[in-house]
Amino acid sequence: MSAQTQIRRITAPDIRSRKGEEPLVCLTAYDAPMARLLDPHCELLLVGDSVGMVVHGLDSTIGVTLEMMIMHGKAVMRGAKQALVAVDMPFGTYEKSPEQAFENASKVMRETGCQAIKIESGTYAAETIRFMTERSIPVIGHIGLRPQAALADGGYKVKGRTIASRQRVIDEAVATDEAGAFAIVIEGVAEDLAREITEAVSAPTIGIGASAACDGQILVTQDMLGVFEWTPKFVKRYENMAERTEAAVRQYATDVRNRAFPTSAQVYAVKRADG
Ligand code: KIV
Repeated sequence: MSAQTQIRRITAPDIRSRKGEEPLVCLTAYDAPMARLLDPHCELLLVGDSVGMVVHGLDSTIGVTLEMMIMHGKAVMRGAKQALVAVDMPFGTYEKSPEQAFENASKVMRETGCQAIKIESGTYAAETIRFMTERSIPVIGHIGLRPQAALADGGYKVKGRTIASRQRVIDEAVATDEAGAFAIVIEGVAEDLAREITEAVSAPTIGIGASAACDGQILVTQDMLGVFEWTPKFVKRYENMAERTEAAVRQYATDVRNRAFPTSAQVYAVKRADG
């Protein structure tokens, strides 16, 4: 038996119990080294299907496959020791029927070892969420701006701007909550709507572009680190990785061209002295 202290991993009931308490810190993660860095600071790491755009350079999340999610889910699980790891179900893998959703979600959980899955949850998804939660799959819903619906919506559009749209988002929230989701991501809605939903549902709400009036926040990690030139308006940048990486690579190129590298004698000196 290992002498190391076992770190207890955060569970779905732990996240649920944070309703109205200290805000939940959540970020996306797609690989093991980044998951290792984020893990001590986050309650939840999401292997988002945004991986398709952030890592694979796709134009949208529509081309993301279950296999991609499983591969990135496994990597994040190797890096994260204490945060709950949730994996997004990609487009086309859960909408057809509750049975299809259960089959694919259980495959993701079995093969990655993750603790939960997330689905984009229009009101149509309530039956699917209920089917999965009743069969012991912890589910996070995702309402408001649903990126997988961007083609049908004509773009990534803020929701709740008309009375009808506002009511639709509230209906999505209530349906997702009543179906048993243990947390609900709210994306792209104004503060008053986020607050109304947060007060109306029993599950903690996790906002992205939905103001501080939620029970927690999530961002795409690369957005808040400034990896891309463009980021959505609601993202606060904590770093400028694009500029810093560019400067580092420029310096590396200069060093290579000037042969400004440690010599073998410097690198291997100790080994040689040891014999
Ligand atoms: O795919 C994703 O990264 C997401 C979050 C940004 C909520 O769904």
